[in-house]
Amino acid sequence: MTANMRTCAGPVDFPAISDFMYSLYWPNNQDGNWLQPMWEYAYTHPWFDEESVPRIGIWEDAGTIVGVTLYELHLGEAFFQTHPTCVHLKPEMLAYAEQHLAGTTDEGKRYLKAYVSDFDTAFERVVRSRGYEKEPGSHRPMSQFVIPDPFPSIRLPDGFRLKSLADDNDLVKIDRVLWRGFNHPGAPPDGSLEGRKKTQSGPHFRKDLSIVVEAPSGDFVAYGGLWFDPVNRLGYVEPVATDPDYRRMGLGTAAVLEGIRRCGELGATVAYVGTDMPFYLDMGFKKLFTLNCWVRCFSSD
Ligand SMILES: CC(C)(COP(=O)(O)OP(=O)(O)OC[C@H]1O[C@@H](n2cnc3c(N)ncnc32)[C@H](O)[C@@H]1OP(=O)(O)O)[C@@H](O)C(=O)NCCC(=O)NCCS
Repeated sequence: MTANMRTCAGPVDFPAISDFMYSLYWPNNQDGNWLQPMWEYAYTHPWFDEESVPRIGIWEDAGTIVGVTLYELHLGEAFFQTHPTCVHLKPEMLAYAEQHLAGTTDEGKRYLKAYVSDFDTAFERVVRSRGYEKEPGSHRPMSQFVIPDPFPSIRLPDGFRLKSLADDNDLVKIDRVLWRGFNHPGAPPDGSLEGRKKTQSGPHFRKDLSIVVEAPSGDFVAYGGLWFDPVNRLGYVEPVATDPDYRRMGLGTAAVLEGIRRCGELGATVAYVGTDMPFYLDMGFKKLFTLNCWVRCFSSD
């Protein structure tokens, strides 16, 4: 099969890349291809590098996308989405990423972090042969939760309650819980509400699947964001955070489980999260595979 490469044309390609990612999924696949919500979450993230979108590489066969090489938030990282019949394109996609998606360190050195599934030994051999070394701290596990039916009851301490953003989309409270929950000191910076609005701008963002825990004070103190993929009937968890003053009370678990429960009501049978933190394993997620991070620094010639 021959495939032609072109660069991403910007927002107009967002739906086509989404459709491609929907088509790549099958239950329990460990090839490292992204779930569509991962693409949408990255694309609408406040830190997403919009200027570099034209560097995203798209491979097509007779007008059908068969491969995409892209970064998650910024240059310096490369993820490889390939149709199972086109894995032979990966070396070419890696070479493209080295040319067009490399980042630059503070010292001015070009580098690339290439993410490869631990089940993709063929591609692992390629990156090794091109001088990449594994960077253990930057790996990306993927874990899966089989949604029980019936769904067990979700417990919360007295005085706390679960809400969704469909009930109360208070951006100031959302901003506060996500800022504090991701361990940032002080108050959220000016202008961060715009970023929160951007995260809600994706075509598949659902307020009814974005769950918060409201404390007796009225503050939102835990957040569990869920995405629903109606094509493959799965949920995807992102982002999740609990205010440091309210941790280890079961609030983060309750928010995530409520979002997953709602995905189950919509027809999802499994949910995924891009981590193997004990927090998720303890609520029933099991690791499926890991995207290992392989890094190479390029000489300045
Ligand atoms: C991870 C996080 C969301 C957990 O929220 P939480 O509301 O404190 O979690 P819960 O109280 O529901 O924890 C339930 C269980 O998960 C496990 N767990 C939670 N935090 C843990 C930690 N830091 N270390 C080990 N296990 C942990 C424990 O088994 C805990 O049960 P226990 O308290 O009875 O031991 C919170 O620590 C956080 O916001 N961290 C920073 C942001 C982040 O890392 N988000 C996740 C990114 S995907």
